[in-house]
Amino acid sequence: MRKKTKKNIPKFIYEYLEGGCFDDIGLETNRLALQKHKLSPRYLIPYSKCSLTTTILGKKYNAPFGIAPIGLQGLIWPNSPAILAKSAKKYNIPYILSTVSSESIEVISELAEDNAWFQLYNPVDESIQDSILSRLKICGYKNLVVTVDIPTFGFRPKDIVNGLTMPPKRSVKNFIDICKTPYWATQTLKYGIPKFKNLEPYMREHRLELPEMMRSMAMGKVDTEGLKRIRDKWEGNLIIKGVCSISDLKLLKETNADGVILSNHGARQLDACESPVDILRRIDGDCLPSGMAVMMDSGLRSGVDIALSLASGAQFTFLGRFFMYAVSSLSRKGGDHAIELLIQQLTQVLEQIRCENPSHLTDFLAN
Ligand SMILES: Cc1cc2nc3c(=O)[nH]c(=O)nc-3n(C[C@H](O)[C@H](O)[C@H](O)COP(=O)(O)O)c2cc1C
Repeated sequence: MRKKTKKNIPKFIYEYLEGGCFDDIGLETNRLALQKHKLSPRYLIPYSKCSLTTTILGKKYNAPFGIAPIGLQGLIWPNSPAILAKSAKKYNIPYILSTVSSESIEVISELAEDNAWFQLYNPVDESIQDSILSRLKICGYKNLVVTVDIPTFGFRPKDIVNGLTMPPKRSVKNFIDICKTPYWATQTLKYGIPKFKNLEPYMREHRLELPEMMRSMAMGKVDTEGLKRIRDKWEGNLIIKGVCSISDLKLLKETNADGVILSNHGARQLDACESPVDILRRIDGDCLPSGMAVMMDSGLRSGVDIALSLASGAQFTFLGRFFMYAVSSLSRKGGDHAIELLIQQLTQVLEQIRCENPSHLTDFLAN
């Protein structure tokens, strides 16, 4: 799927999807950290059947994985937010809509219903925050994911060279790349040039240009004080995404959050990052408030990776690029295919090691 994605979408967009930051060392860190862990099979124990059903944050899902938030998803593959949201509903897994998605809060809630979660980049302007929270409430969202790991914009050399900056630059080179991918181009014409649908009303109202809007969206306070303020306003589940150190995990107690997604943003922010799976393995008893849901993403590409993450202590996982490879290579069939493939792979791993449910996987981590 990844190879086909490279052929199907313009080069500058492929590099936006694929890239980490600086020298892309963090991408390697994430992969190596997963590969370093192993599973122990238990062929001699009594075993019945495996079920992937997993309950997290009060809802039962068909599998212990979901679709991570991706900004400008519709630029990578036209209409991909709708394709993935529909698949998430069909297979009963979570779909997280990004603040900077090309589809709106309202449309996604119709497509994915209670499988839709929302990811917030906390805006500086509290009236925008209030408006977003009230739109989420009206649409019935139950899970709010606040991303805390972009205190600065990531340094991504390829995006700079390609002109994928704020504001974006038009170039002959990118135009030529687009001409080389006619299917992507015709699909983009069909669905329209992607826009920041969640932010457009505020850009109009506050007369903000895109770069100012993006800066204002990214720079709202997400320290414990900022998170407490969001907690006070939001009655649903509050999930903190992007925590990637034991010291931050310890501070979560102060925020009263319901869950955490350990993540290094797919290695797009800090090239010298640790992998979340390594942090997971260092969590000890008093690190986290009891009852907090522990989830993770970054670097997962298969059912084996999901099993290894759960065996290392996560209760749930998310994948970003994997789902984008699926839609960019298989278009509207990509969402269903990706989910079926992961279910098939994860089931095989569980049956192979003789584990009856993902929640038992911690017993199968080899030391
Ligand atoms: C192209 C791209 C855009 C992303 N946009 C967002 C975003 O808008 N909000 C967010 O919280 N995380 C964003 N992320 C991070 C993902 O949610 C997720 O943490 C990451 O992709 C996980 O790593 P993986 O791609 O290796 O699975 C983005 C990642 C990529 C690759």
